[in-house]
Parts: sequence; structure tokens; C-alpha cells
Amino acid sequence: MQRQTVIITTDIKTELQAFFEASDYDKLFILTDTNTCEKCYPAIQNIPQIQKGAVITVKAGDNHKNIEQLAVIWNFLSSNGASRNSLLINLGGGMITDMGGFAGATFKRGIKTVNIPTTLMASVDAAVGGKTGVNFNGLKNEIGSFYPPERVFIDCNFLSTLDKNNLLSGYAEMIKHALISNEKIYREILHFDLNEELVTANHQLSTLIKDSVAIKERIVEEDPTEKGIRKALNLGHTIGHAIESLSFRKNTPLLHGHAVAIGLICELYLSYKLCRFPSKKLIRITHYIKEHYPIFFLDCKDYGTLYELMTHDKKNEGGTINFTLLSDIGQVCINQETSEKLIVESLDFYRESFGI
Ligand code: GLY
Repeated sequence: MQRQTVIITTDIKTELQAFFEASDYDKLFILTDTNTCEKCYPAIQNIPQIQKGAVITVKAGDNHKNIEQLAVIWNFLSSNGASRNSLLINLGGGMITDMGGFAGATFKRGIKTVNIPTTLMASVDAAVGGKTGVNFNGLKNEIGSFYPPERVFIDCNFLSTLDKNNLLSGYAEMIKHALISNEKIYREILHFDLNEELVTANHQLSTLIKDSVAIKERIVEEDPTEKGIRKALNLGHTIGHAIESLSFRKNTPLLHGHAVAIGLICELYLSYKLCRFPSKKLIRITHYIKEHYPIFFLDCKDYGTLYELMTHDKKNEGGTINFTLLSDIGQVCINQETSEKLIVESLDFYRESFGI
């Protein structure tokens, strides 16, 4: 799998135009959702090549990342003469880059795709690394493929359309990347003032984004299909995904990154117990998350459901729950197993730390 090129820019028009001029394609399609069509498409619509393209707009929201909307995209491509040499630009958050990536991977056995992420979550995670897919049968990203885009263009100006909670959600993935990389990046991430309007600190944020994306790219380059070290990117996600699903069942939906932040606390607790992750660092990151992220009210009556959800995680192997843990910042231990008792203890640790 070839290395994708991520371009971080403040001048997306110039970068895109240069890309189009150097590219060979017959027809251009731009996938948007109802939000990005209104708020983000205007930033690129004057580019001559984009003006010749056809815009596809699907309904916004992760609940529309499904087979029905995927068929809408396939139908549009088919009835508008897309060929195997066409180019599909995915302009949006993770929902659009995941679903558009999968539409591109499957239409006529694969057309070229380009991602233009418009959320922090998509910029540092979803749009980078080649995972594509849709939800199916109530399961997240159940159908999908590894299909890297030709290019990813990240322009932090799009982040000004986001509210604080969505920025925090993406920032949780940046914390994760820092935890699996090194002390220097980790310190920078924890020192960035999240209480400032994130977008007013645009320059510093774009440097942090660049580092974060580079961490992910390095890992994906080494292990594009998640046979080994790419599992490092799952830190915080085994418990995080279960909390996210529980929050939907309870009708108090959490943003993905907010659930991952809780997952990070619990899984660093497991890291402390099983891999000797330093307790001082566990306390420090727990305080940081407590200071910045919303509380999620967990009850010990939820533990059974959470455990059940974890047993269905698609990252599990051989019927056991598969964790990625750390023995220190940047020291990753993949394929870790633990007991239900210790998982419950980690959830207790979260609740006690947050005074729930
Ligand atoms: N979001 C984790 C990965 O791309 O592997």
C-alpha cells in the first residue's frame, strides 16, 4: 500500500489547483453533506476544476453513514458517467471521508479519492490512514476496506466552523497520538491552552496537528492493515467505544472523542496495573481530562452492558477482549488481555476520579 500524502496548508485553493493540474482524471465529483455543502464548499467552489465537477450531497450525521446513503453516492456516480478514471473528493468530517472513501474503494472496483477533512477529528484521524466504511446492522464501521486516498488536504481554516465540543472531540485523538509517541509531543499537547478559543491559537494548533498526523502516518506506513503496531492507535478505544455505544443507548450521546477521553483514563489505569505505567502520569492525564472534558454519568449497573459491548468489539481476537496499553509514554504494549474484575476496577477509577 503506497504512502498517502497529507498536505497541511492555509491556502487550500492553491494546493488543490496544483494537485488538479498534475493529476490525470476524466470527471470530478465532490461529496459533501448538508453542513459542509453550505459551510465548507464555498471555500473551494471558485477553483476552475471544481466548477466543472458535480456535487453530491448526503444527509449529515453518523446515523446516515449507511448502505442507503452509500447507494445514493454509487447511483450518482453511475448516472453521471463516472469511470474508473474519475476522481471523488470527500469534503467533510469522518462520516464523509469514511463513506466517500468506501464509495471510492468499491465503485467500478476503485476510483481515486481525495480527502478534505473539515473537522479536527477527521483531520487528525478519520481522513488519514486509509480506513473507509459504513455502519451496518447497528454496528459501527462494520462494512469497509483499507483504501488510502491519493491526497489529504488539511486546512485549519475549516476548524473555525466547529464548536468547542467538536474541537475537544478531535483533540482526544491528538492526546492519544501524543501518548503513543514521545514525552516531548505529550508535554506540548498537555500545555496547549484548551480554554483559549482553539481557533484563535490557530498557528500553534496547526503545528500540533502536523505532529499528530505525522505520528499516525508513520504507524500506518509501517502496518497499513493493522496486523501489529497500528493497534497502538486503538489506545482508549476498547472501553471508549463501549462508553460511546452505552451513551447512545441511554439517549445521552457522547461525541466519539469525549468517549475516547474516558477510555484513555480507564485504559491507562489498566496500563498502570498490568504494564507498570507510572502512577504520576496516570494522575496527571486524568486531571487534564477532568479539567477539560464533560462528565459522563456512569452507574455500576452499567458495567455489565459495558463489558458485553467490549466482548463484541471487532478488534478482539480469539474471543478475548484485546487491549492496547502503555508501559510509559511512547512504550506501547499491544494484544493485552485482562480480567472483567480489572476492567470494572478501571471504570471505578474513572468514577472516583470524577466524583461520580
Ligand atoms: N482510527 C484508528 C486507525 O485509523 O487505525
